[in-house]
Amino acid sequence: MRLTIINGPNLNLLGKREPSIYGDQGFESYLEDLRSRYPQVEMSYFQSNIEGELITAIQEAGFSQDGIILNAAAYTHTSVGIGDAVKAVPSPVIEVHISNTFAREEYRHQSFISAVVKGVIVGFGLQSYELAVLSFLSDNK
Ligand code: DQA
Repeated sequence: MRLTIINGPNLNLLGKREPSIYGDQGFESYLEDLRSRYPQVEMSYFQSNIEGELITAIQEAGFSQDGIILNAAAYTHTSVGIGDAVKAVPSPVIEVHISNTFAREEYRHQSFISAVVKGVIVGFGLQSYELAVLSFLSDNK
């Protein structure tokens, strides 16, 4: 099975950025663990701080991968374009967030993505990504 993880702005700083909210592990090191735990999954990874690059990545993965795990980070709450890209592609998308966005500021309760994805996993730390992988694997049995 082929999955792509797409991370949005500031997630390149995981491990250094507000560790009390996002933890102290960098994403590359987490991804290494994840890949070793699920060798049957070919996991590609893309991160960008630029909205248009995220849209292009969704368009590309969305016609070639079995699923996309998307953390659009701050763009979740602002980007009609990312929501439209998710709508435009046939691959199923799971929206994930590290923190529980519903327990945070009001502006983080709004998502332009939630209504157009297969499902949403919020608030389990980096484990949110693993839960999304498990969901895709169980669908694929
Ligand atoms: C986030 C939550 C967003 O509100 C925030 O802007 C992020 C990360 C999360 O994974 O918890 O950058 O998507």
